[in-house]
Amino acid sequence: MKRRAEFFAMVLAAGQGKRMKSERAKVLHALAGRPMLCYPVEAALNAGAKKVIVVVGHQHESVTAVISQRFDKRVATALQAKQLGTADAARCGAQAAPDFNGWFLILNGDAPLISADPLLALINAAPSAKGPLLMLVSSLEDASGYGRIIRDDRGQVIAIREDKDCTEDELSIDEFNPGVYAVRSDFLRSAIKELSNQNKQNEYYLTDLVARAAQAGGVTDIPWDPVELEGINDRFELAEREASLRLEIAYRHALNGVTIRDPISTFIDADVLIERDALIEANVSLRGRCSIGAGALIDVGCVLTNVAVGAGAQLLPYCVASDSEIGQAARVGPFSHLRTDSKLAPQVHVGNFVETKKTVIGRGSKANHLSYLGDGIIGERVNVGAGTIFCNYDGFNKHTTVLEDGCFIGSDSQIVAPLTVGRNSYVATGTTVTLNVPEDALAIGRVKQENKAGLAKRLRKQLAAKKKR
Ligand code: UD1
Ligand code: CA
Repeated sequence: MKRRAEFFAMVLAAGQGKRMKSERAKVLHALAGRPMLCYPVEAALNAGAKKVIVVVGHQHESVTAVISQRFDKRVATALQAKQLGTADAARCGAQAAPDFNGWFLILNGDAPLISADPLLALINAAPSAKGPLLMLVSSLEDASGYGRIIRDDRGQVIAIREDKDCTEDELSIDEFNPGVYAVRSDFLRSAIKELSNQNKQNEYYLTDLVARAAQAGGVTDIPWDPVELEGINDRFELAEREASLRLEIAYRHALNGVTIRDPISTFIDADVLIERDALIEANVSLRGRCSIGAGALIDVGCVLTNVAVGAGAQLLPYCVASDSEIGQAARVGPFSHLRTDSKLAPQVHVGNFVETKKTVIGRGSKANHLSYLGDGIIGERVNVGAGTIFCNYDGFNKHTTVLEDGCFIGSDSQIVAPLTVGRNSYVATGTTVTLNVPEDALAIGRVKQENKAGLAKRLRKQLAAKKKR
């Protein structure tokens, strides 16, 4: 096998993205939970780039923060102080690797659907190319917005004309420039200095390198399917690209043995992990870094953000959970709300209209109906009756409720934290617990009931008489 040339990649990401009409830099807008810029960076890494240089400018602090949080030292940033155009951006990128001699792979930060395959096609063809520049080309029925490919009589690529600079005839060309190139570093460094910004946008166009390369040995063009090459310039294109990505993600999980009942209505972020035989029902959103264990059920309408679901757990319809853990074979829902730092051990049952926050629930414990369980530490085999409330907040501080193993909390009880309900104790229905309950004790705190014979009849009469008047 031929040895692949060593190469650096450059991802251009300094522009503002005016057409997004956003306070946020375009390349930070997310697709499937990841800033769009991460996709081309990852594609370059997957293709084997020795180093990836991200050219940053607009909101460079935030963009750099995302890069350093998500990638290791193989990915660096270079600052383009003023956004003078894509050629100027590439110049800044090249400056960040002054000693590098070889092929620069250059791609745009706003085309997230790209995979490593077309990048490899360029890099593999580079060593035997006759000129200093190779590029992808593609076609669309309507290529408006993109730079168009200009060829000579022999079919050789001789230039790229930006949409805004095209003549009427050139506008009808359907072959477009996806903005992905492999350029020899020496050629890039010298030719880029000679470009001018005499064009409709008064920008330094990287695309002008193509005409230079055509004269300096020729341009090698590699045709590629437009699906993974289309860029994002506005919010509608963002939605379109995300829809494609979403299907691709669902497809990947399906091939790994996950049942996704309705890929169209299912939103699975790019960083989500799902094991075999999990079943994901319609209208589910799995956001951020969720992990779903083997054979788990995520039923209709669940919205999970950074949640770890154990093998065989069942989330019945319409559960909302974030930053939480759900143990193996636990059963949650329908209509449960697990807030930050809820930790359910295996076989826990949490039922409808139960809200938990920062609460740990031990193995086999149950809270099946209508409860608020905030800041709790619940042991094993505990039964929390319907309507139980942990009164955890006094307006200033949050307090912890501890329910030890095997205790039983009768329905409609309020536990006024901080306190501990001891092992195997029993809280009678309707009790407001304000004192610690010792092990094996019964806590009961109800107003004593009185029955007044016949009084209901009299009362009804009185009330009816009042109504007539
Ligand atoms: C560019 C190409 C066009 C191609 C299209 C493919 C040029 C001049 N045109 O057009 O031929 O069809 O991409 O999607 O290259 N950027 C910087 N610094 C700048 C300007 C831009 O880093 O000064 C970055 C942007 O953040 C963006 C990328 O370069 O990620 C492309 O810039 P954009 O303005 O979107 O170029 P297009 O008009 O789409
Ligand atoms: Ca663009």
